[in-house]
Amino acid sequence: MSRVLHLPGRVTVRVPGKINLYLAVGELRDDGYHDLVTVFHAVDLCDELTVTNAPRHTVHTQGAVGVPAGAKNLAGAAARLLTRRTRAGGPVAIEITKQIPVAGGMAGGSADAAAALIGCAALWGLELSRDQMSEIGAELGSDVPFALAGGTAVGTGRGERLSPVLARTPLHWVLALADSGLSTPAVFAELDRLRANAETPRVGAVQEMLTALTSGDPKAVGAALGNDLQAAAISLQPGLRRTLRAGIAAGALGGVVSGSGPTVALLCADQAAAGEVAAELAGSGTCRAVRVAAGPAPGAKLIS
Ligand code: C5P
Repeated sequence: MSRVLHLPGRVTVRVPGKINLYLAVGELRDDGYHDLVTVFHAVDLCDELTVTNAPRHTVHTQGAVGVPAGAKNLAGAAARLLTRRTRAGGPVAIEITKQIPVAGGMAGGSADAAAALIGCAALWGLELSRDQMSEIGAELGSDVPFALAGGTAVGTGRGERLSPVLARTPLHWVLALADSGLSTPAVFAELDRLRANAETPRVGAVQEMLTALTSGDPKAVGAALGNDLQAAAISLQPGLRRTLRAGIAAGALGGVVSGSGPTVALLCADQAAAGEVAAELAGSGTCRAVRVAAGPAPGAKLIS
């Protein structure tokens, strides 16, 4: 007797945003990417994607403006790539409820691609290993493998090669969201320009951050925060310097521009301190909005 497989008609996936606790950028490679060493950290500011079998591919977003529609949307691209790679499935309707800022340096697009891969695989009954999923994800964007993995991890190569960091002490963050986004390629190009014109300071060794994470002491983590892209993001959006200063003045232990920015991540001593810093920063006039978040958060996962 053949086994009847009951596949769900609709699935929902939750996926976290990320901040980079540490980001050292190397030289521009021949393929247009930069080698980097980064410490990714997933936080519980999450997008949710619902994926349903449908007569044609569609993507709708709520909760944000500026998310690319049609063929440019990374979640839709993920669904199409998974079909091409596995010869399974078909068109899907994807509904995205966004909390991760768009073009904010928190890998929101990559997160949605990761969620679409998990959602489509469940919808189509595919059994793919983590490594297979991660390899397909890396074709969509350098940060997709981390959005699948979550937690805290060192990323190398262009960010797609991951080694988990066992740092389970919760970290409490205030995220300062900017008025407008920054384009990731533009920020990398600005760093190349700054470096070509003058000696530009570089972050220290990654070991300092790893030791701080192992200690579980938020003060040590705050002191070790660093990002080579920060100077480039500030060069393109000088107001970010004020946001960072206002966050520290409000009581944060340390602050850093996340990834290519412009979101600023401010580390706080505990949840209560994060609430206080968020309230003060919200009134400072140095950012569009503030969010409180905690990490490490799990990677993309099915919630129904
Ligand atoms: O991989 P992803 O599509 O997110 O990268 C977007 C752009 O960011 C790349 O085309 C490249 O210009 C820049 N980038 C880079 N080095 C990396 C990651 C991204 O230069 N390691």
